[in-house]
Amino acid sequence: MNYKTIFEPFRIKSIEPITITTEDQRNSYLEKAYYNPFLLDSDQVMIDLLTDSGTSAMSANQWAGMMIGDESYAGAKSWNHMHSVIKDLTGYHHILPTHQGRAAERILYTLLGGNGKTFISNTHFDTTRANIEYTGAEAIDIPIPEATHPQEIHPFKGNMDIEKLEEIIKEKKPENIGCVILTVTNNSGGGQPVSMKNAKDVRSICKKYNVNFFLDCCRIAENSYFIKHREKEYESKTYKEIAQEMFSLADGAVMSAKKDGLVNMGGFLAIEDEKLSEKCSNLLIITEGFTTYGGLSGRDMEAIAIGLKEIFEPDYLLYRIVSTAYLGENLHKMGVPLMLPIGGHAVYIDSKELYPQIPVEQYPGQALVCELYLKGGVRAVEIGSVMFGKYSEKNKLIPASMELVRLAIPRRVYTQSHIEYVIEVFEKILEDKDKVRGMEITFETLFLRHFTAHFKRL
Ligand code: F0G
Repeated sequence: MNYKTIFEPFRIKSIEPITITTEDQRNSYLEKAYYNPFLLDSDQVMIDLLTDSGTSAMSANQWAGMMIGDESYAGAKSWNHMHSVIKDLTGYHHILPTHQGRAAERILYTLLGGNGKTFISNTHFDTTRANIEYTGAEAIDIPIPEATHPQEIHPFKGNMDIEKLEEIIKEKKPENIGCVILTVTNNSGGGQPVSMKNAKDVRSICKKYNVNFFLDCCRIAENSYFIKHREKEYESKTYKEIAQEMFSLADGAVMSAKKDGLVNMGGFLAIEDEKLSEKCSNLLIITEGFTTYGGLSGRDMEAIAIGLKEIFEPDYLLYRIVSTAYLGENLHKMGVPLMLPIGGHAVYIDSKELYPQIPVEQYPGQALVCELYLKGGVRAVEIGSVMFGKYSEKNKLIPASMELVRLAIPRRVYTQSHIEYVIEVFEKILEDKDKVRGMEITFETLFLRHFTAHFKRL
């Protein structure tokens, strides 16, 4: 089209009302939720940017697919449909359905992990890290150095540091490496893409040392968009062809279909190696379900099969990436410190830069998450020391490398005026940013504490 406005390439057929709240109401809701927006009820939230996971709006086609979902225990038609779409996309021989990404992670990392094992990733997502550490193994993040400097521009800030990869494999010894995981796009590192060149380099090192290489591919369509537009040799390939090439480099993949599968629930584990897949199938049957449904309803499998095709439509991907960038670029122009360039599924605010008066021990990201909710009913998530901080033996906080707050954009859900509203809320955030104080944790759990922690304002 010869117009500069890129509009949502869909019409709205079914709507879900938003409850409008006042600041006084939100004050009391947040206090009752111990200043942790995970503990709010969804109808207390006006614009929910907590996650892009499982929050997509399904298409009319997917809803139609739900009606023909085959709920047979074994050999369901819907499984055959899902299986054939994933086989065609990934090329892997063995595909196991799971109810979501972390179920696939748990199965795979339980079998590859354990005491003395090391996993290496551009950045492990929180559930990935937790599933690995739960087995007794260690998880090491090696993003490229640019990745931890929010203001630095790099076309593929999600890349893995190849030199460090080789060093760690040598130091720990190849037989002790559980696997190398490339997360595309790199969610915890700002939704930043990984280049095909980097994936090829990871593959050649893993081949050299005979180490497993898996993709965490839940946003691979968005990653393919960036490759097509930023990596010259790929400009004439389709998004799907780019994804297929990336799959061909790895030994398998875990996917949470709740992201680029455009569904509310589902995932899969895909593996090339037969022996490993047999072991995974056993664990799948014990803990998730039989190999032709793995914890999913037939209707969910039908919706995944359709969603995994819709996600590669060029008009959709253009709208997706451009609309996320629209929010980020407007906030950047206003002077909100951000992770640049803008990633695929979310905008990440650098809360340490926004609130320099708050030390990391007082969680500037959590303070921003609370301000966003109080001022505008916008729910976001802290991706900093609340999510990834650890304690030293002396009980001192070892902070995360960045104090980000993620505004994740659900797929096909919000219109441009919702986003204009979020931008306006940030005007208010900037107005009194110097007055904001930090937070203290009053209750926490050992794993994934950000979901349930309680806070108090200082
Ligand atoms: N890997 C990545 C990169 C993820 O972003 C997620 C989930 C998972 C694995 C786990 O998948 O939720 O289906 O079990 N990310 C969500 C988020 C929760 O908000 O980013 P799951």
